[in-house]
Amino acid sequence: MSDTEIQRLTITKPDDWHLHLRDGEMLEGVIRYSARDFSRAIIMPNLVPPVVTTDDASAYRERIMASLPAGMEFSPLMTLYLTEDTDPADVEKGAESGLVTALKLYPAGATTNSQSGVRDFDKVQGVLEKMAETGLPLCVHGEVTDPSVDIFDREAVFIDRVLDPLRQRNPQLRVVMEHVTTRQGVEYARAGGDNLGATITTHHLIINRNAILAGGIRPHYYCLPVAKREEHRLALREAATSGDATFFLGTDSAPHTDPLKEQACGCAGIFTSINTMSCLAHVFEEEGALDQLEAFASLNGPVFYRMKANPEMMTLVKRDKPVGFPDRIQTGAGPVTVFDPMFPLCWEVAR
Ligand code: DOR
Ligand code: ZN
Repeated sequence: MSDTEIQRLTITKPDDWHLHLRDGEMLEGVIRYSARDFSRAIIMPNLVPPVVTTDDASAYRERIMASLPAGMEFSPLMTLYLTEDTDPADVEKGAESGLVTALKLYPAGATTNSQSGVRDFDKVQGVLEKMAETGLPLCVHGEVTDPSVDIFDREAVFIDRVLDPLRQRNPQLRVVMEHVTTRQGVEYARAGGDNLGATITTHHLIINRNAILAGGIRPHYYCLPVAKREEHRLALREAATSGDATFFLGTDSAPHTDPLKEQACGCAGIFTSINTMSCLAHVFEEEGALDQLEAFASLNGPVFYRMKANPEMMTLVKRDKPVGFPDRIQTGAGPVTVFDPMFPLCWEVAR
């Protein structure tokens, strides 16, 4: 902290509208980083086995709260993993009790632990109708799983083949397009009206597919949806920094241990909860849009989820020298590499 402060920005304390906390020793190892910089987070349900029922969500919430270090405050907003067997009555019970904030739709096979996801959308129509009625949002992993569709096209094809028909059939359903990664995703979200929102991750604002593939294969930049071409990254930056209330932060911070990432068939996921706010301040400054950081990280999400913005504030400080983040953190489950934005980070959260 001895380096000179050259700029300061105070914003409403952020929330993370898409977060993987995992369970057990990994949960214990990572939760402090989210609790430090975010008041609330939408907790992804793709555990093994997945968080399917209201009772599952209640038990998982208790494990999360039990792993929170003493003195830290954090509100996990629980989601249920939508399956073809999800019971509309259980969803209603979870929503009414305030325990369940959203449901998560994984097309079966789209990503990590998505085997229990949806294959036949007719089978979940009853649940979607109940959600439309109660205003409960559906968080959508928007990629088709058809092996004949190129992985870089899976988001755009999902919009045409699945998302748009689903929304036409359920116009009152409130939908969040999770981690949009393409210009097409941005354009569709922007035109979708009040019932459609979109999260954008930290890393998709910073890397394009070259980070994964050019000059060697770099597993720590591999996630799903996979980072796309530069034109798409630029569209995401424009959307995030525009102030448009459609777009809000969902880090998709998704820790896997290094051995699971660094192998012949490595896991998808990038761990960013530790340095997201520093990365975002850098990106928004680069775009000449520091004044829009608060909307993206702290205000637009609560509006979509019909919640109040946090009463607490956060101050970000820019130093004249880079601030240090570890290359990796140690957890009881093993080491987890921290997202490297490939530029020096001079912004830090004042503690
Ligand atoms: O990169 C990803 N990691 N994308 C996902 O959709 C899932 C996540 C995970 O759970 O590891
Ligand atoms: Zn995710």
